[in-house]
Amino acid sequence: MAILKVANLGNPILRIPAEPVKNIQAPEIQRLIDDMIETMREYHGVGLAAPQVHRSLQIVTIEAEPEPDESTTPSAPTILINPRIVSANERLEEDWEGCLSVPNLRGKVPRHTDIEVQAHDRRGKLLSFPATDFFARVIQHECDHLVGTVFLDRMKSLETLTFLEEYGRYWARHEDEE
Ligand code: NI
Repeated sequence: MAILKVANLGNPILRIPAEPVKNIQAPEIQRLIDDMIETMREYHGVGLAAPQVHRSLQIVTIEAEPEPDESTTPSAPTILINPRIVSANERLEEDWEGCLSVPNLRGKVPRHTDIEVQAHDRRGKLLSFPATDFFARVIQHECDHLVGTVFLDRMKSLETLTFLEEYGRYWARHEDEE
């Protein structure tokens, strides 16, 4: 396993749509998934998308604990390959987000509170599950990376954009980096 270099905002790879993964079982894809998990943990991220580690592929890893009552939801770390958000409720809720590719910044981002997700797991099995609240937020954030969107694009206004130090001083609750 290896810790991968994270692409920062401005790197064009963060702005192009990622390719679907065709051969999930391929050793190089399995190795990439392992490396993404290690990289996400090294930098204390709750999620990571392959374009963030310079691979334009539809793979995301998520460390956030899914809702405990959702037995259909894969347990952490959640690996989603070629994920699709197939439905989302009307309701949007604003909360803080950060991103390993946008270091030292936080901002409030509106996200759907309930979504339905389809994806393959790392063995190629098709998953279909609901996600709510924080877990739904992380999935939306990571799926955005697969279409070249970052959380800044989703902010209603840049008024809440905050450096990490000021976030800690004035706004901190319990959120982690995504
Ligand atoms: Ni991100």
